[in-house]
Amino acid sequence: MSANREHFSSRLGFILAAAGSAVGIGNLVGFPVSATKNGGGAFLIVYALFVAFICLPVMMAEMALGRKAQKDPYGAYKTLSNSDKKWSIAGFLAVLTPFMIVVFYMVITVWIFGFLAQAVTGNLDLLASAGYFGVFINDKSVFIYMIVVAAIVNLILVGGVKEGIEKAAKFLMPALFIMLVALVAYVLTLDNAMAGVRYYLVPDFSKMNASVLNGALSQAFFSLSLGMGILITYASYLSNKDDIVGSSKMVAIMDSLVAFIAGLMVLPAIFSFNPNTDPKELSDSSVSMIFDYLPKLLLALQDDIGYVGASIVASLFFLLVFFAAITSLVSIVEVPTAALMDEKCISRKKALIVLALTTGLLTILSTMSFGMIDWLTSFINYGGGSKSFFDLVYDVFYDTILPLNGLLLCLFVTYRWKKSGLSEELAQGSEGYLGSAMEKYVNFSLSTFIPLILAVIFINTVTTKYFAFSILGI
Ligand code: TRP
Repeated sequence: MSANREHFSSRLGFILAAAGSAVGIGNLVGFPVSATKNGGGAFLIVYALFVAFICLPVMMAEMALGRKAQKDPYGAYKTLSNSDKKWSIAGFLAVLTPFMIVVFYMVITVWIFGFLAQAVTGNLDLLASAGYFGVFINDKSVFIYMIVVAAIVNLILVGGVKEGIEKAAKFLMPALFIMLVALVAYVLTLDNAMAGVRYYLVPDFSKMNASVLNGALSQAFFSLSLGMGILITYASYLSNKDDIVGSSKMVAIMDSLVAFIAGLMVLPAIFSFNPNTDPKELSDSSVSMIFDYLPKLLLALQDDIGYVGASIVASLFFLLVFFAAITSLVSIVEVPTAALMDEKCISRKKALIVLALTTGLLTILSTMSFGMIDWLTSFINYGGGSKSFFDLVYDVFYDTILPLNGLLLCLFVTYRWKKSGLSEELAQGSEGYLGSAMEKYVNFSLSTFIPLILAVIFINTVTTKYFAFSILGI
């Protein structure tokens, strides 16, 4: 183990940082809405099973790989494959993917920050006015908000693992949880709140089909930060005494719990806003829910608590989403940062400057691809439509490549590093792992059906997205 590599100061710090990465915008709005549309409680049960039986082993494998190598993802694949060229492609993808995810996630975080700033300064009515979102994303003020968000992320990251990432997570995650619970408590007092709770929780198994299952699994996989190189990187800051098996369970539970509780905030609010809401008509996209639909709902609270009251609730809501987004953003920028530090042997500061310049340029381009600049807005055609630069980055690096990265990881860990290597690593810090049913399940699943399922999801996404043809018939 490299003597001067920084490490997390406590297991709790690591768990909160990893959970902070996993809890993001999607947990707070996307998950509850998609659960309600796709069978309520039935979706929740299926989702929980996917988390426990498919995602958890992948999470453990990522963490084991990172801790063993004590390197960024590229370095981890390289070290554990003895510099085998084939595998450096997987390592390269595991660094390129987060680099590109920064580009689109930053754009959305900047919008959230903009909405937060407007809500705090008393402009909730503006946010809720028809067509405002379209105007906002093309307003020059987004560049100001971008500078502030970039400054916050860099300020956290320049502090390093203990003083930056860990400290931020230890503050932001509990704060996020308290705000979430406070909002749930308030929302549940609204008229008709229970109708929303019922839609969210009552199981309807008739909604289950291949498409819903595929959606639930992909969502669980994305939500837990898998395939992004993040957990490899964060776990490279763990020592052999740390318990990966227990920590990964905690991270999965926290992420799912926040998503679940967020449903108790979002659905009652939606149904009290409009008791006749047809869940089918709610948008699948977190972006249109957060920026288009929810501001109107938040403004309507003024009938209950006045304009100032509604503005306070709205500010709290956007702050909550902003905290969730910042911890995810920090984790995703840390991957290329660690890669530059480890592979190019440059300081953290230098790495952050390189990334600020490169991702900064691409983020500006994707921010301008919503109408500011024509060629970026109609950047490319595929899957039967014109796509913007932002769409392209999102589709390729978020929607398509993550299952592929997961697939490569499973194959690498079980066939190249070998199951014995994985087991030995997971047993460090986790007494009783060797010989347990858990060990057998992890080794079996990671070498058989999990990569198979990920391969099917990957191929199906490629054919549906880019060739308008689904191999699953959905
Ligand atoms: N759960 C996140 C979300 O809901 C998805 C995610 C996980 C993510 N890790 C991330 C997004 C890292 C960006 C960066 O948005």
